[in-house]
Amino acid sequence: MDAKSPKNSLDAYWMPFTANRQFKANPRLFVGAQGMFYKTADGRDVLDGIAGLWCCNAGHGRPKIVDAIARQAAEMDYSPAFQMGHPKAFELASRLADMIPGDLNHVFFTNSGSESVETALKIALAYHRIRGEGQRVRLIGREKGYHGVNFGGMSVGGIVANRKMFGALVTGVDHMRHTHGDKRNLFSRGEPQFGAELADDLERLCQLHDPSTIAACIVEPVQCSGGVIIPPKGYLKRLREICDRHGILLIFDEVITAFGRLGTPFAVDYFGVQPDMVTAAKGLTSGVIPMGAVFARSKIHDAFMQGPPNAIELFHGYTYSANPMACATALAVLDVYQEEGLLTRGASLAGMWADAVHSLKGLPHVIDIRNIGLVAAIELEPIADKPTARAFEVFLKCYEAGLLVRTTGDTIALSPPLILEQKHIDQIFDILRRVLSALA
Ligand SMILES: Cc1ncc(COP(=O)(O)O)c(C=O)c1O
Repeated sequence: MDAKSPKNSLDAYWMPFTANRQFKANPRLFVGAQGMFYKTADGRDVLDGIAGLWCCNAGHGRPKIVDAIARQAAEMDYSPAFQMGHPKAFELASRLADMIPGDLNHVFFTNSGSESVETALKIALAYHRIRGEGQRVRLIGREKGYHGVNFGGMSVGGIVANRKMFGALVTGVDHMRHTHGDKRNLFSRGEPQFGAELADDLERLCQLHDPSTIAACIVEPVQCSGGVIIPPKGYLKRLREICDRHGILLIFDEVITAFGRLGTPFAVDYFGVQPDMVTAAKGLTSGVIPMGAVFARSKIHDAFMQGPPNAIELFHGYTYSANPMACATALAVLDVYQEEGLLTRGASLAGMWADAVHSLKGLPHVIDIRNIGLVAAIELEPIADKPTARAFEVFLKCYEAGLLVRTTGDTIALSPPLILEQKHIDQIFDILRRVLSALA
């Protein structure tokens, strides 16, 4: 890259969620990916400790997926999403509806997690309205929640930096407290013991706003981007009970947790709590082609199917909803997941994974470690007056040492492809141990 040539410089690309000037002063470029590894522009292998961005659950460069994409591109590149269909869209929706527990039988396709969230929130509002409860206009989210970057998701989200620059956001939104910070839960394995009663924040918000004004409550079953915050035992069940009591729809944002991340196909399976809608993306196509999905229970879908049959039931959709390339990719990805048992593989590795991450306890600046399924977090003590700097230093040092991790605040997050083996676990934690041990 020649910084002087405007046609081939680092300048034109405005990078998302990146310190652009810092990056461009010392760029980190991937040029290839196979299995568990990325290849850097300077020819080094970097072990993927975060499945790209929590998404490449089947690992990289999988021939079956590559072939499916090539075949689909040759067969039919695009088919209009509105008032037309194509067989793979129906096949994919049917397969997904069969996989997910309960009667989340209807699937609306989007192109990202953010779009899935917007879609679910809009369906929730419209659902109440068509049933004659149009006064249910409020949406409840949670502090530290991440539901993407569009206006609805940003509004129900609770990460301050993602919200504060962007005006008054969507009105009628309130937030429950997050469940992080109880000292009794430090270094918990899996679901922490304490804090289920924090779900009663929803009951308080019901009393404050009048529950008949609340349309939906949206939570990530595990708050991943906000710091890998795992719900206390019984917390999600309690949310479900409060929603039931007041006719509020419960939406699980499973953009990260769906497709095997917790060692079960969905977090719905893991926690045994049935939401009314589930949002997904990322692992649906193993990150290869953008695609998202919203799963809705039959009662929601059926409520829309009432008017004259020639009327459009939901004025919502995207040019690329159920794009044939994305559908072909997702079908091939589901085949790979199924053939290799990847959606439950995390359960068999979870014990080893937990032992490995908790072995870092006691290293300099490590103030908490959390894990669930094939997700883990190592929380570091922030440097005074320089929040996030310590974790970013670990990120850079890991990258130099051949490991890709993610940081959220001063927490190191791990979420590797589900094809991970013991030797990769050893490599991940050897590198982390070395890097953390050498911290100033
Ligand atoms: C829970 C959750 N919801 C929504 C999103 C947004 O997804 P996308 O970046 O595909 O829009 C993310 C992304 O990390 C997420 O973790």
